Amino acid sequence: MIQLFRVSKVYPPNYPALTDIHLHVEKGEFVFLSGPSGAGKTTLLKLLFREEEATGGQIIVNGRNITRLDGAGIARLRQEIGLVFQEFKLLPSMTALENVALAAEVVGMSRRESRRRAFHLLRELGLREKHDARPLTLSGGEQQRVAIARALVNDPILVLADEPTGNLDADMAEETMRVFLKIHEKGTTIMIATHDAGVLKRFHHRGVQLQRGRLMSDSKSAQREVAS
Ligand SMILES: Nc1ncnc2c1ncn2[C@@H]1O[C@H](COP(=O)(O)OP(=O)(O)OP(=O)(O)O)[C@@H](O)[C@H]1O
Ligand SMILES: [Mg+2]
Repeated sequence: MIQLFRVSKVYPPNYPALTDIHLHVEKGEFVFLSGPSGAGKTTLLKLLFREEEATGGQIIVNGRNITRLDGAGIARLRQEIGLVFQEFKLLPSMTALENVALAAEVVGMSRRESRRRAFHLLRELGLREKHDARPLTLSGGEQQRVAIARALVNDPILVLADEPTGNLDADMAEETMRVFLKIHEKGTTIMIATHDAGVLKRFHHRGVQLQRGRLMSDSKSAQREVAS
């Protein structure tokens, strides 16, 4: 699903944010990307959806070399990826349902089908009663689930999340992680950048650790979550 060969990223004028990264992630894997602040986690995710361009090396996502993509290719790539950020970036004037449906409408799905999908996703994420709520009346965990529903509405094959539990308390973080586990069970490949020690301790999936832009360790011994 994801292959990086000797990938580097140098931010201008000459800051090496990532150096010589080799990484293979199989379809259906669940990967935590960890490491201290400034290690390059966000940069790595940005390379994968072409928010940033690699300085060197090759990146293959879903069989496509994304180091050589034109505008249309980048748009197609992004349709295959669901993005979840620490900041939920929901539109405050729209309802939860409209926020989710909009993400499908903007890539050309009919209004009716977009709303139908949004409806089912919100229900699946435990927000059945909150379809018509505005984001600011929702709790942090609820807002994050709306943002996750939005990331899923176009059926991504890959979900990239950057500190998705960063603004949540421990219970909400746990709840959000369970949502990711559920998505993962359906076969979606997931990569989550986090330095949430609680999450990393509790969920024992593959862990890839960055430090100063280099890949320091990779535990490929994925286990099931520790029983509670
Ligand atoms: N647009 C940019 N221009 C210049 N330097 C940048 C840019 N974006 C990031 N950097 C630098 O690259 C390094 C890696 O940043 P990155 O955001 O990838 O780290 P991170 O691991 O996500 O950190 P955090 O845990 O704080 O989110 C940092 O030193 C940062 O200052
Ligand atoms: Mg970051």
